[in-house]
Amino acid sequence: MNIVEVKDLRMCFPILKGVLFHSVAGYVKAVDGVSFSIPEGETLGLVGESGSGKSTVGNMLLRLLKPTSGEILYRGRSILGLSPQEEREFRSRVQMVFQNPFASLNPRMIVGDIIGRVLRVQRPELKRDEVRDLVLNGMQEVGLKVEHMTRYPHEFSGGQRQRIAIARALISSPEFVVLDEPTSALDVSVQAQILNLFKDIQKKRHLSYLFISHNLSVIRHISHRIAVMYLGSLMEFCDRQELFRNPLHPYTQALLRSIPKPYVTGEDISDKIIKGDIPSPIDPPAGCRFNTRCPQATDECRSVRPQWREARDGHWVACHQV
Ligand SMILES: Nc1ncnc2c1ncn2[C@@H]1O[C@H](COP(=O)(O)OP(=O)(O)O)[C@@H](O)[C@H]1O
Ligand SMILES: [Mg+2]
Repeated sequence: MNIVEVKDLRMCFPILKGVLFHSVAGYVKAVDGVSFSIPEGETLGLVGESGSGKSTVGNMLLRLLKPTSGEILYRGRSILGLSPQEEREFRSRVQMVFQNPFASLNPRMIVGDIIGRVLRVQRPELKRDEVRDLVLNGMQEVGLKVEHMTRYPHEFSGGQRQRIAIARALISSPEFVVLDEPTSALDVSVQAQILNLFKDIQKKRHLSYLFISHNLSVIRHISHRIAVMYLGSLMEFCDRQELFRNPLHPYTQALLRSIPKPYVTGEDISDKIIKGDIPSPIDPPAGCRFNTRCPQATDECRSVRPQWREARDGHWVACHQV
């Protein structure tokens, strides 16, 4: 059973020109026809260079952004056009953890209130003591201590703050969590601890994750399946082992070559991949989006957009050369 299914998702941001009378000067094609699914209890790792459209995908799944077109199904039902009641239900089932635990925690609130606030809204019937107990349980689950409850966010390290953000996301017992670069701002040693925490919690609670990162080493550590994104489009999608054993797309192959050896998490690989910059999504290359940087590009690649197709069982790719 898929918890999430996305079909031909697109997001175009208008570029406005002029100060008083806005006119549309063009569009940023941030997400340009993306399809994938996430089976229940699994992690889909979404990897790609900065600017490839990963966060835009995550934000559409969270209903923070309305897609220009395409479909998003949650447990088989569209999340576009929910009734207020369905919307409330969706909000309690789907949560998020973002990159920056410094910006996402209110500096004026103590940790216990930050974590418990959602419950006041979602479960107003709970008594003070009950909320307190739930918050304490949640804090223990992510490795925080009882005495942390009355402290303020600035008293914690980056890793501890991310634990607070995780406890807050889990307090409403979600089924699906979008994790957008949740370890990218942390020291390498702390990254591994937080990644393991995500894995433990997933096993215990049977959660499903969309895990977004520019770092393939991190993605490899956490994902069951991996989707490789480039300039608004998916290049490849399959299970983790298959991707590392048998990468089909030249972009994926380049990403794999760029993984630092020996295995080190946390290193930014985006400038080691291949020569040249990622083109602008305002005016993306015709044909295959990757053709301007691909060592194997032919005339066909420069003019015809490759189809998204299942090249092998469960292994999807968009490339003329495969
Ligand atoms: N609100 C917005 N308005 C205009 N352009 C945007 C907006 N949000 C993102 N973009 C553009 O869309 C593209 C994809 O951005 P994003 O989804 O943040 O990529 P990633 O998360 O992979 O780094 C980028 O070119 C970015 O500048
Ligand atoms: Mg992003």
